[in-house]
Amino acid sequence: MKDLPAEARDLDGHPVTPGLPMAMLAEVTHRCPLACPYCSNPVELTRAAAEMPPEDWARIFREAAALGVLQVHVSGGEPGARRDLAQIVASARAAGLYVNLITSGIGITRARLEELDQAGVDHVQLSLQGIRPDMADRISGHPGSWGKKMAFAGWVAEIGFPLTINAVVHRQNMERLPDMIDLAETLGARRIEVATVQFHGWADLNRAALMPTREQAGFARRVVNDARIRLRGRMVIDYVPADHHAIHPKACMGGWGSTGLNVAPDGTVLPCHAAASIPWMRFENARERSLGDIWRLSNSFNAFRGTAWMPEPCRSCERKTVDFGGCRCQAMALAGDARATDPVCSRSPLHAQVVARAEEDAAAVETGFTYRRMKKGG
Ligand code: SF4
Ligand code: FES
Repeated sequence: MKDLPAEARDLDGHPVTPGLPMAMLAEVTHRCPLACPYCSNPVELTRAAAEMPPEDWARIFREAAALGVLQVHVSGGEPGARRDLAQIVASARAAGLYVNLITSGIGITRARLEELDQAGVDHVQLSLQGIRPDMADRISGHPGSWGKKMAFAGWVAEIGFPLTINAVVHRQNMERLPDMIDLAETLGARRIEVATVQFHGWADLNRAALMPTREQAGFARRVVNDARIRLRGRMVIDYVPADHHAIHPKACMGGWGSTGLNVAPDGTVLPCHAAASIPWMRFENARERSLGDIWRLSNSFNAFRGTAWMPEPCRSCERKTVDFGGCRCQAMALAGDARATDPVCSRSPLHAQVVARAEEDAAAVETGFTYRRMKKGG
């Protein structure tokens, strides 16, 4: 393991005091009925036997609330794969957290959704893989997924949950983005999150099938801008652009260790959902140390706080407190160094190489998907 700072510092050597985390992602399981080729869960999934029981989650939710967390995103995998999901949700609500259920909609019946309503789910976020049955089923690797999702969306509306649609876009569905936005409106969503596939983790295996072209990235940007104007006051559109074709990287997580934290099914606490892709970084576990100590004092959370860790060109860049040097996991995937300037930044020495590879992937003759499936016994 490389040396990590025990304390984050700025470029003048002053210690950086961490702010309060607003949100926590609670990955209650990595089990999932879908097999999306861009799955953002870690390459090494947590087995069912290692998942924390509801009592541990209840304690972690109380610690999170005491630390300043306001909302918890109960996610997976597919959280519905846990039979004790309602108990987990109830303990999050009892801790005073706003509960957002992030789901594929597969495997949760109407009766169960009502039970989750009683338990304290405040908001539902439903993923969409496409806007037609054939497209949605092929991309998710789950025959029949479309029909199940549409039925689920109907129950969400009947019960009266506020709804967000999460649409992951890539080369094989980006041209249908206007239809996805229309569908979200039809389903009564108050918000749609349009997220271009991020190419670290599993999606990296499917780059040649998923990388959008530069033209598609421009098209998506225009569609989002137009829809934001048209739907103002009715539906919010959050957008994660195709940053391989951008000039600046995204401010991933709003800055490492600044606003959110993730707890994996076994209690491992991560500064972002993909942080386990940084091979030399060691992460602490909420079953062994308090969430507050991990947030404030752990080496993993302090590794990229402040600006002292930054290399050039970030160190002398005026955007270093705007995008925080980009995404650490993307730097790991593309530069082989989590400390590097995110190579999608036009000022990175690797930028030209990254763009050339993205153009090459985007021009590839469409290949089939390598689907994400948990190995037997998972
Ligand atoms: Fe952001 Fe670093 Fe690029 Fe500046 S050089 S825009 S801080 S990634
Ligand atoms: Fe880990 Fe961006 S996904 S910092």
